[in-house]
Amino acid sequence: MFNFKIQPIRAQFPALRQTGASGQPRVYLDGPAGTQVPQSVIDAMVNYLITSNSNTHGQFETSRQTDEIIHETRRAMADFLGADSPDSIVIGNNMTTLTFHLSHALANFLQPGDEIIVSRLDHDANIAPWLALEKRGLRVRWLPFSHDDCTLQIDRLDQLITDRTRLIAVGYASNAVGTINPVQDIIARARERDILTFIDAVHYAPHGLIDVQALGCDFLACSAYKFFGPHVGILYVHPDIGERLQPDKVRPQEDTLPDKFETGTLNLEGIAGVRAAVDYLASVHELAGAPADAGTSRRERIARSMQMIAEYEQTLSRKLLRGLQSLPHVRIYGIQDDARLHQRTPTFGIRVEGLSPAEVALQLAERDIYVWDGDFFAMEPVRQLGLADSGGLVRIGAVHYTTGAEIERLLEGLDEMG
Ligand SMILES: Cc1ncc(COP(=O)(O)O)c(C=O)c1O
Repeated sequence: MFNFKIQPIRAQFPALRQTGASGQPRVYLDGPAGTQVPQSVIDAMVNYLITSNSNTHGQFETSRQTDEIIHETRRAMADFLGADSPDSIVIGNNMTTLTFHLSHALANFLQPGDEIIVSRLDHDANIAPWLALEKRGLRVRWLPFSHDDCTLQIDRLDQLITDRTRLIAVGYASNAVGTINPVQDIIARARERDILTFIDAVHYAPHGLIDVQALGCDFLACSAYKFFGPHVGILYVHPDIGERLQPDKVRPQEDTLPDKFETGTLNLEGIAGVRAAVDYLASVHELAGAPADAGTSRRERIARSMQMIAEYEQTLSRKLLRGLQSLPHVRIYGIQDDARLHQRTPTFGIRVEGLSPAEVALQLAERDIYVWDGDFFAMEPVRQLGLADSGGLVRIGAVHYTTGAEIERLLEGLDEMG
């Protein structure tokens, strides 16, 4: 693999220069709950507030600038997701709010007795909005996962699909154990039968390239704060279905895509930051040392960067996996096979013998190593794995700014718990 230069990347992130309470540099392995942001994102948000702060659709300069910034962010997100039009990019508070809003809109479109397939591996934000439709007479059916490697039992899908199936809602990758799901295959099976598809790409987005056109999905949601941006949610809506839905909206709001899916005044400084986050990701391959390639499109630069990020993260996964496997008191959940590291993100769910996940996270926090414990709202998988009553999992979440030395610091901390 190409030598991934990590220092020019880390230099972009002021948070990575902070020391923690113990006086050591902080190790951020909490990325699946939110990543740090580069200086360019901070600058974009601050600059917006200084130079362009206004509401939208006015006749004066700051308002026109705001309209332009929103449009530019939609274009950037279309490039990030591989969408062909900025009009298919809906912006909202976060993925959860956007998904509830969408499920509500779909409720008026679907009929009682229609069926929705969800997966047991998902975050609740891709389950609860669909379960809410049971009140309207719809039926939710569950796609299980294998407990030994935490991968979806995709061969069960054909048995679950009936002539009443209208939607399959599935995650791109698990925020609890890192499994990357075969979404391409799932969408292909759905499309053969005219079933709509909703993809929760929140966990996957910082780890690999998304291409909504190649996937052929109807909806795909993600959250900028998981991919080095601010707290803003994004929903891709395919125009064919988007035009047919009638989401709740205030009457003066336009009736066209994407505006009709958006409610109230958006987080405008956040939106300025989202564009900067996409531009940061487009620049990663050059920062990491690949030859500069002026002239290629932003989409191509994003594709190269995400490819490099995915390759670098596999080296982190390998290191983490080997280290964790060498600790007899640590149990790993999810894919552990070296040959299948491309089927997972560098997010690992583990348990440490004799300690609750909260105790492990606390002991690591004392060393300024930040990991999450609990179910991270991935309540179904944690429950299925039988861990709900004992504190869930410890989640170690690396991203492309994580170094090998940081992984070693984590492993030392875990080693001492044995
Ligand atoms: C896989 C996954 N889906 C959905 C969400 C919810 O995202 P948001 O906080 O933007 O609502 C999260 C947040 O952790 C997540 O990890």
